[in-house]
Amino acid sequence: MRARILLALFPLFALLAVAACGKKKPPETPEPAIAEVAVDAGPPVEDAAPPPKSLFDRLGGNDGIKAVIDKFVENVQQDPAVNKSFKNTKGPKLDAFKKNLADQMCEVTGGPCKYAGKDMKSAHKGMKISDAQFDALVMDLKLAMGEAKVGDAEQTEVVEKLAPLREDIVESKKKK
Ligand code: HEM
Repeated sequence: MRARILLALFPLFALLAVAACGKKKPPETPEPAIAEVAVDAGPPVEDAAPPPKSLFDRLGGNDGIKAVIDKFVENVQQDPAVNKSFKNTKGPKLDAFKKNLADQMCEVTGGPCKYAGKDMKSAHKGMKISDAQFDALVMDLKLAMGEAKVGDAEQTEVVEKLAPLREDIVESKKKK
């Protein structure tokens, strides 16, 4: 009797066994790829805009400024509007004057130099310099910058830096 029952239930056991074996393992969550877990560090460094160049650098640094000052002094010596004021500026005095001019231009354009000369009021005291002479000297400087191949934008920036010195340098309102 028991054997008959077992025989009758055999197909059911067989069915359960097949079902248990065929049951699939749940799929494992895949490991995230390294690229997906990398921390976002912002844009790559090469995408960052370079810092703007100082006016000093755009003038060609100390070498560029020296070239401008050499030409400027030549122009001043040939300019009848201003050259009488410089008749005694020769030899070591001329060298010191050029160094002071170069240091001043380096400093006002953002360079590493320190101007160690007199302040503009004391340096020009008693010279009775007129607006016309100031303008003539600025033209001599512009001419020198053009000769030294300084760009138009840089020439304008240099002149703008020196323009405020007019009120300390000009004493005479007389047009010469
Ligand atoms: C933007 C205008 C100017 C600038 C930036 C300038 C700058 C200077 C500097 C840095 C010095 C040297 C100061 C020192 O020795 O400690 C100087 C001296 C002098 N400047 Fe000017 N200057 C200007 C305009 C003028 C003008 C318009 C004149 C005359 C027409 C003039 C005549 C002189 C003279 C005669 C000296 C003395 C030179 C020497 O040592 O023999 N400057 N100036």
